[in-house]
Amino acid sequence: MFEPTNIIVTGGCGFIGSNFVHYVVREHPGVHVTVLDKLTYAGNPENIAGLPEDRAELVVGDVCDRELLDRIVPGHDAIVHYAAESHNDNSIADPEPFLRTNVEGTYALLEAARKHGVRYHHISTDEVYGDLALDDPARFTEETPYRPSSPYSSTKASSDLLVRAWHRTFGVRATISNCSNNYGPYQHVEKFIPRQITNLIGGVRPKLYGDGLNVRDWIHTDDHSSAVWAVLTRGRAGETYLIGADGEKNNITVLREILKAFGRDEDDFDWVRDRPGHDRRYAIDSAKLRRELGWEPAHTDFAEGLAETIRWYRENEAWWRPAKAATEARYAAQGQ
Ligand code: NAD
Ligand code: DAU
Repeated sequence: MFEPTNIIVTGGCGFIGSNFVHYVVREHPGVHVTVLDKLTYAGNPENIAGLPEDRAELVVGDVCDRELLDRIVPGHDAIVHYAAESHNDNSIADPEPFLRTNVEGTYALLEAARKHGVRYHHISTDEVYGDLALDDPARFTEETPYRPSSPYSSTKASSDLLVRAWHRTFGVRATISNCSNNYGPYQHVEKFIPRQITNLIGGVRPKLYGDGLNVRDWIHTDDHSSAVWAVLTRGRAGETYLIGADGEKNNITVLREILKAFGRDEDDFDWVRDRPGHDRRYAIDSAKLRRELGWEPAHTDFAEGLAETIRWYRENEAWWRPAKAATEARYAAQGQ
């Protein structure tokens, strides 16, 4: 069992990273977190504001900055790497920042982990495996071949391969986790669920891509956090663990649950242009994680998790409102 006391969390001001920081501060009182975040359009220091100063500290900087890494990594016992350009639609509009942050950034962190002898955990995505047909009985496992479709997922796949090579060649104590679609508080309004919730709060009709039948495998972000902690502390170096909570749903079903929560008609939305290369279905088999590390999700009722998430966006309009107009202007320019 690895018992870290001083960890670096990259991207800790983004959606999933900040939820992980809250999780660690809440559940693991002996652990100090240094958040390294560039504060891109997706990073918001408000996400971790108010945490005790002796538990969490923010360093504003770029994961590609190797001099900065040489200054801050010594003295820490682990790096948990969440920072990324994370949105598929943005990667189609402009892939360049994805190459830089997702590939070069991972390279810089692996070199720092190697040089300073630090444990490294890599946060990745189920999208590296490409997609499944709607009628395919299979789900993704750790053995599924890589077949990414988008600029985003291909850069995440590239970064995973770097991690495997740095473990095998240089002996970096590294693990990888590939998780499915997260939902919960602090998610940027560009993403599917927050976009529709905040549209409805603002009196705008939700927007659905394609035929609405694409399937995503939803997991509450707190369950992602507990799984990452399990892999960080009890996972075997060099191993990959898939994280999922058996939450497959197609987009139109999720959208209709949101419409229902707002008391709106189930057809009260707009069909918009589909995403080029749009992956059809993701589905995770998390048997290895459950069997080896004894992990189980706590949030198994999607309707309840969604209702809590809607409540959070209703109560935190000041948090999301500043990003909303610019996000919708970008979508409008793309016909979405
Ligand atoms: P996000 O876009 O909400 O947050 C990304 C964070 O990284 C932001 O705080 C941003 O400021 C920071 N960042 C970006 N570039 C940086 C750089 N060069 N240096 C330092 N910080 C930088 O992303 P998210 O949805 O929270 O995703 C976090 C991680 O989880 C990503 O690696 C993503 O691939 C992975 N993931 C996401 C999901 C999901 O459903 N959102 C599912 C599985 C895996
Ligand atoms: O599977 C894990 C991945 O989940 C992560 O690696 C990514 O970082 C994360 O962004 C997410 O990717 P998706 O592309 O699945 O998520 P997104 O929220 O962009 O879209 C979810 C689904 O909803 C997808 O099928 C596209 C569709 N969609 C999206 C938007 C924004 C719509 O129908 N309408 C919309 O307005």
